[in-house]
Amino acid sequence: MKLRSIELALPKAAEAHRWMIDIWGCADAGQQGDTFYLRGSGTFPYLVSLSESADNFVRSTTFVCSPDRLAQVAKAALARGLNAAPCVSSDPGGGEGLVVELAEGELLRFLVGAEEVAPIEGHSKASRRVMPVKLTHVVFNAADAEASGDLVEEVLGFRVSDRTKGMVFVRCNEAHHSTAFARAGFSSLNHIAFEMEDLDSVMRGIGCMRDHGFAPAWGPGRHGPGDNVYAYYIAPFGPVIEYSTAVEKVGDDYQAGEPDDWTWPEKRIDQWGVSDKDFAGLRIAEEAFRFRREWDPAPIEQFAGV
Ligand SMILES: [Fe+2]
Repeated sequence: MKLRSIELALPKAAEAHRWMIDIWGCADAGQQGDTFYLRGSGTFPYLVSLSESADNFVRSTTFVCSPDRLAQVAKAALARGLNAAPCVSSDPGGGEGLVVELAEGELLRFLVGAEEVAPIEGHSKASRRVMPVKLTHVVFNAADAEASGDLVEEVLGFRVSDRTKGMVFVRCNEAHHSTAFARAGFSSLNHIAFEMEDLDSVMRGIGCMRDHGFAPAWGPGRHGPGDNVYAYYIAPFGPVIEYSTAVEKVGDDYQAGEPDDWTWPEKRIDQWGVSDKDFAGLRIAEEAFRFRREWDPAPIEQFAGV
């Protein structure tokens, strides 16, 4: 199971698309009607889609998986009685599978047979520009993060990696987390993290953003759980986006930490302690995108083999 992409709807999608290419460093992955696509240097055909809409919302977060894993998800979603529907992707890469609505409205799409593309090579050596490789995590705000963690363990076969005072971190493969649920008291998109090649690429990304007048809302720093480097920004079109790198790889025997295992000395909230956090600004941005289901629930028994 791999996190592949997030599908957003928002006003002025073309402007946001341009900003993500010119300033953030993504590559253009084309346009279909009113939907604009962004890719990274890796092999996924796109990482973010931006569809023109009167208001902001998250259409889905997409994972790619094997037919066996899809069948497991379908069976468990049926058993739990979650809203779900079959889907055929018309986005770049195609594929088919199902879309599932979790308890707080999060919309997760699972695709099999989605095609990949040739990577983009040599992009960062030739210039000061940086390009994200792929998405490394998409984090959601939750009214009940514990229940959300339990639900994705039960239905999706994900595993909780760590619990902190702020988050429940969840993995779907050997990466410490591909998603997490923040203990926010409400449900929305918390942030989208882009994987950079290395620490140097994160720092050069911060430099490119600074060239264009953008300062991090938090970072640079290095998290506790996952051990990844981060720099968070509030995109001009609303959401929180992150340059990240080097998330820890964990095995099946990884012992999930509890909040008391992840404490900081006073005035510290990361390993380095070199940057401040714009709590108020981030909080507003974290409420900018909520989830909206645009489909009606439909039978998914065909995927569950029942
Ligand atoms: Fe993050």
